[in-house]
This record gives sequence, C-alpha cells and structure tokens, in this order.
Amino acid sequence: TYALGHDEVKPLTNKTHDPFGGWGASLVDSLSTMMVMGLDETMDAVIPEISKINFQLDENVSVFESIIRYLGGLLSAYELSDARHPILLQKAEELAQALLPAFDTASGLPYHLWNPVKKESLNNSTLIAEVGTVQLEFMVLSHHTRNPVYAQKAQKITDWLDKAGYRHGLNIVGLFPTDIDVHRGRFKDATCTFGAMGDSAFEYFLKEYLLAEGSVPQYGRLYLHSIDSMKRYMLRQLPGSELLFLPPFDTRHHTAKRTMDHLTCFVPGMLAMGAKTFDRPDDMVVAKGLLETCVYMYRSTATGLCSENWQFENDEPYNPLTYSKSREQLTASRDWWYMQGNSAQDTLVEHETSGNAHDQETVTQSYQLPPVSLPRPSGLQSMDRRYLLRPETVESIWILYRVTGDPKYQVSVDRYKDDDPPFF
Ligand SMILES: *[C@@H]1O[C@H](CO)[C@@H](O)[C@H](O)[C@H]1NC(C)=O
Ligand SMILES: *[C@@H]1O[C@H](CO)[C@@H](O)[C@H](O)[C@H]1NC(C)=O
Ligand SMILES: *[C@@H]1O[C@H](CO)[C@@H](O)[C@H](O)[C@H]1NC(C)=O
Ligand SMILES: *[C@@H]1O[C@H](CO)[C@@H](O)[C@H](O)[C@H]1NC(C)=O
Repeated sequence: TYALGHDEVKPLTNKTHDPFGGWGASLVDSLSTMMVMGLDETMDAVIPEISKINFQLDENVSVFESIIRYLGGLLSAYELSDARHPILLQKAEELAQALLPAFDTASGLPYHLWNPVKKESLNNSTLIAEVGTVQLEFMVLSHHTRNPVYAQKAQKITDWLDKAGYRHGLNIVGLFPTDIDVHRGRFKDATCTFGAMGDSAFEYFLKEYLLAEGSVPQYGRLYLHSIDSMKRYMLRQLPGSELLFLPPFDTRHHTAKRTMDHLTCFVPGMLAMGAKTFDRPDDMVVAKGLLETCVYMYRSTATGLCSENWQFENDEPYNPLTYSKSREQLTASRDWWYMQGNSAQDTLVEHETSGNAHDQETVTQSYQLPPVSLPRPSGLQSMDRRYLLRPETVESIWILYRVTGDPKYQVSVDRYKDDDPPFF
C-alpha cells in the first residue's frame, strides 16, 4: 500500500526508505519466502513489479548488498518456482551484468560501491565479507544461464583468498582480516571477526563446498583452515558454563576483544553443518556451546529479544578438556589420584555425538522451554541494545534441530498464548 517498488516502509510515517538502490529490496528478498509459504497469488501479483526494475542506476550502489539481497532473492525464487517465471532469471542476469565491471580490478576483488551508469567507484576499500559473499550467487547464475563468466569472477576471488599469504597482510592461515585494499590486493588491518564485516565469507566456503557437492576440495580446505584457526586462536569459554564466545581477534598481536555480535550467531548452524559434512564431532560441541550463548542472550532479557552485541569477562581460551567445568571442579579434579571409586571419570569430558532428526521418534510437539536457570554471568551485558530483526540465531536453532533431532531446539508455537509468552 505505501512502499511498493521501494526498499522499505517506515511504519510510523508510512513513508519509504531506499538504502539498497531503491529496487524494491524487501519485495525481492521476500520472494523465496512467498514461494515457501505457498503464497502463489501474491507472487503472481508482484512479478510485474519485478519486470519494471531498472538496474542501470546512476548512483553508488553496494555490490555486496545488491548481490545478497537482489541476486540471491531472484535466483532463490527462480529455483523454488521451478523456472515458472523466466523473468526472475532474466532480471538476475541484468543485475549481474550491471555489477560485472566492478570486478575488473587489478586483484579481481570487486569494489565496495559501484555506479552502474558511470562505471566508476569512488573507493578502493572493501571488506572480507563483501568479496567473500558473491560466490554462491554467481555460481548458481552461471549454472542457470550457462554463461561461465560469473562463476569465473567468483572463482578468481576464491583463488586470491586461497593464495593470500603474509605479503598480502595475512598473519594466521584461514583467519582473513576485515579491511581490504582492492587495488593493492592487500589486507589493511589484522583483525579477524566472525561478526560484522567478516561473517559470511567464512559461511560461504562451506556452502560452496556443499553446492559443488564436494567436488571442489579447495572450498572444503578453506573452510577447515578457517575453523581450525578460529578454534585455536579465537574461541573463548566461560568456566563453569556451557557458554562459548567468539569475539574479534587481532591476528598480529594475538589479542581478543571481549565483545560478540548477534551476527556471529550464524556460526552454530555453520559448524553443525560442517560437523556433519566432515565428521568433526568437536565442531558440534562448539556449535552447541555458541548457540547456548546466543539463545541465552534472548531468553535472559525482559523482552525475549536479543541485543545487537554484548560484552563479557572472566573468559579463557576454549579447551575441549576443561570446557564447561568450573575452576573449582578443575582444582578438585586434580586430586583424583587420591580418590576412590569412579570419581576420576568426572575429570574426563565426554560429549555425545549427534543423532539424526529422523532417528528420533520421541520428538514431542508441545515441548516448552524451561525457565532460564543460569544466573547472568558477572560482566556479561548488552552493549548496542537495538534488535535489528536479525535471523542468525533462529537459523542456527533450526539447523541444530535438523542435525541433532534434540527437541530442546523446537519452540512450541501451538501452545503460545498472548498472555503466556513461551520463553519464561
Ligand atoms: C499509516 O497507515 C495506517 C494504516 O493505513 C494508518 O492507520 C496511519 O494513520 C498512517 N499513519 C500516518 C502517519 O499517516
Ligand atoms: C556517490 O558518492 C560520491 C562520494 O561519496 C558522491 O560525491 C556522489 O555524489 C555520489 N553519487 C550519487 C549519484 O549518489
Ligand atoms: C584507487 O587506487 C588507484 C590506484 O592506486 C588510484 O589511481 C585511485 O585514485 C584510487 N581511488 C581512490 C578513490 O582512492
Ligand atoms: C571508503 O570506504 C571506507 C570503508 O567503507 C570508508 O571508511 C571511507 O570513508 C571511504 N572513503 C571515501 C573517500 O568514501
């Protein structure tokens, strides 16, 4: 009613907002949801809007945002509709053609901002998340159009990341820093993060591997190098709890921040998929521990919503042998030599390997979450208190449920009543 053809509606004023080129970002981003929900009539009604989009815009547009929102949205809907709407693929290709010159740099890394009409960029700076989050879309576009150029551009970036070494500003294998100079083909800082500005680059390695059905070992290798280094250098645990934290890490000085973004909450889902794909049970332990933190950050607030980021203290490096043990337990356990009976076994940390959702017939429809019993760890608090409709935690919960079959990851919707919120 108020914002058709625009990116966003402002619900208080009914005015529009166009932060993503003004091509109808919400509409295109929602196409795949319409398909999944069977809203075929809505879908048919918005197709004419899609065909009106003009991607030849004389403005600075974000290459990354355009690819994940528009190209990803168009291609997902095209696939889900079994190619019933050829216009979706046609528009996807128009957009990719408008962005393609942004990839013609010395390094092959695309500019952050691009003017499709003037064919110029005003900035040589970009981010690892921006160059590492085009591969799935471009590979899929090449697949459907049978034009290899998109996949080739994407592969050039992947190859650059694969061969990046110390002279490119990389200090630890797999831990790609955030800021990149497109022209020089170098990292400009040393901070690696799985939160804002880093996140999806790491996610895409695994998803590329899965998309190519394991046929390209390079994608699996890039993923595993990153995960191994992340676990070794970046991951933090809170003694006596299941809570794990994944803060930004300075790869030059080997210092960690004490903050974590909600954006980082995609990691549990990624690790759970990777744990299954590569048979790595410890990655599943880490996935569950990080998800504990993300869910705790929702369930321990008065609104049941999570803040954009938070800080913590009293942490220490993740260690599979001491994870979830309190300092008191660990001190006591050193005396196992003098103890009788089986108490020595308490010092061994064992974690069950995951089952498959289909193996477990005991899943109950009306599972309800127990009250939060963990007292708030001292020093754990919200920083930026906004909730930006972030999907990462829900996606991770969904993946963890599908991979483990554990009913604790289900949330009962059928029991929900307005005055009886399910989370408390
Ligand atoms: C926005 O639209 C709603 C629904 O039509 C209406 O109730 C509301 O008064 C409008 N707000 C403004 C500021 O016009
Ligand atoms: C693009 O960005 C530059 C630098 O920020 C600015 O000078 C220019 O006006 C912008 N162009 C458009 C069309 O927005
Ligand atoms: C980007 O780098 C190139 C090559 O070093 C240089 O010619 C150009 O002026 C730079 N652009 C900006 C906006 O800094
Ligand atoms: C270039 O982009 C970086 C990172 O987005 C930003 O900090 C910087 O201000 C930009 N420079 C110009 C000239 O727009």
